[in-house]
Amino acid sequence: MGTLIRGGTIVTASDIQRADVLIEGEQVVAIAADIPVQGHQVVEAKGRYVFPGGVDPHTHLDMPFGGTVTADDFRTGTMAAAFGGTTTVIDFVLHAKGDTLKNSLHVWHAKAEGKAAIDYAFHVMIGDLRDEVMAEIPRLVEEEGVTSFKLFMAYKNNLQVDDETLFRALRMAGQAGALVQVHAENGDVIDVLVKEALANGQTEPKYHALTRPPEAEGEATVRAIHLAEMAKAPLYVVHVTCAQAADAISDARKRGLAVYGETCPQYLVCDNSDYERPDFAGAKYVMSPPLREKSNQEVLWNKLKNAELQGFGSDQCSFNLKGQKELGRDDFSRIPNGAPTIEDRMGILYHYGVQEGRIGLNRFVALTATNNAKLFGLFPRKGTIAIGSDADIVIWDPTVERTLSAATHHMNVDNNIFEGMTVRGKAEKVFVRGKMVIDGEKFVGTAGYGHFVPCAKFSQVDL
Ligand code: URP
Ligand code: ZN
Ligand code: ZN
Repeated sequence: MGTLIRGGTIVTASDIQRADVLIEGEQVVAIAADIPVQGHQVVEAKGRYVFPGGVDPHTHLDMPFGGTVTADDFRTGTMAAAFGGTTTVIDFVLHAKGDTLKNSLHVWHAKAEGKAAIDYAFHVMIGDLRDEVMAEIPRLVEEEGVTSFKLFMAYKNNLQVDDETLFRALRMAGQAGALVQVHAENGDVIDVLVKEALANGQTEPKYHALTRPPEAEGEATVRAIHLAEMAKAPLYVVHVTCAQAADAISDARKRGLAVYGETCPQYLVCDNSDYERPDFAGAKYVMSPPLREKSNQEVLWNKLKNAELQGFGSDQCSFNLKGQKELGRDDFSRIPNGAPTIEDRMGILYHYGVQEGRIGLNRFVALTATNNAKLFGLFPRKGTIAIGSDADIVIWDPTVERTLSAATHHMNVDNNIFEGMTVRGKAEKVFVRGKMVIDGEKFVGTAGYGHFVPCAKFSQVDL
């Protein structure tokens, strides 16, 4: 006996069709009009969209950062992700200084195993690229199912790498079939600006944004693109926030380079005026790169619509205001960077994108699931609804209206940067490999059901 999702409108990155979906075991086995019930368990989807489960390519769960540890771990973070319609996360392993990549990866496996409610894969953020660590890159690709690595051009004296290291890593990764991701901000310039601001007594959250100007992101993005071009390697720029960086990616792609860009929901609907909120509430929005002038939002929306930006990640990195963000009450540079976004990634894109007419349904699916699965070697197992694919499916009710709030969200954190936004559309039922994990307001899955999914090598994709 299987599960028959009946009467819905199936949306993939390329098609929209009224059809039923039959799940047997963990996979989709049939997609057709009017599949006979024949003893299957029927799930009615009339009036609903049937989307592929979301693939969030950018999360930080249970991660030590900024002198504390993210508020959400793999249990709470993946449960919240499921409520939002995401069925796979690609989390960032933090490579600790002095450690091997392999050991850091094993630490992350231990964090996820027995806790994750949805499936997961890993990228590795390389914190200390010694020669022996460089040599591990091909081994992780061949042996561990890890095929993407993030390097930082910011966070000076901590994670930041110099151009030589980035160039060598790009060449090594490119030859190994891996994709390098960059956090593109000029960390040297930011370091000068931060020191000057603090010396002038400028300590409030708004100075986080003022000391990380968009030019610092634009410059680093252009530099990373040139380095990737010289290394003959593909490049993925994470969390793009502004016209300077997004235009650089568009220009590179016009020149035929394998350069991809990702943005995140917060950069589409929040802006730098949020840093002015009274009583230290601006600290909720301290993330890097920072929120920008509102005019950048339209640029990002247009690039999402025109496929000039291809990835859409949450950059989930949650910290409580109380006890965590407060570490920087007297010094903005000590506010842990990041925000809770894993649960609302799809809801924000659906409402402000599809519902308000900025993008179509196919593009919504491409951005929330398909592109991310293709870029990181999970497609077609993840990221689409097709015969033989994992039955990761969201039944989406486009009519429900709700107000996003920390009082009602499922993330384990005391703030929500989308607080008070009223959005239309919601994941009503969510399946991970054929098992229902969300049923209306209820979590019906199990911590530990989610398992590791190895990523295939990077191969050039037209998105
Ligand atoms: O502020 C952010 N984005 N925190 C997470 C770490 C990163 O740079 O992605
Ligand atoms: Zn980053
Ligand atoms: Zn991040």
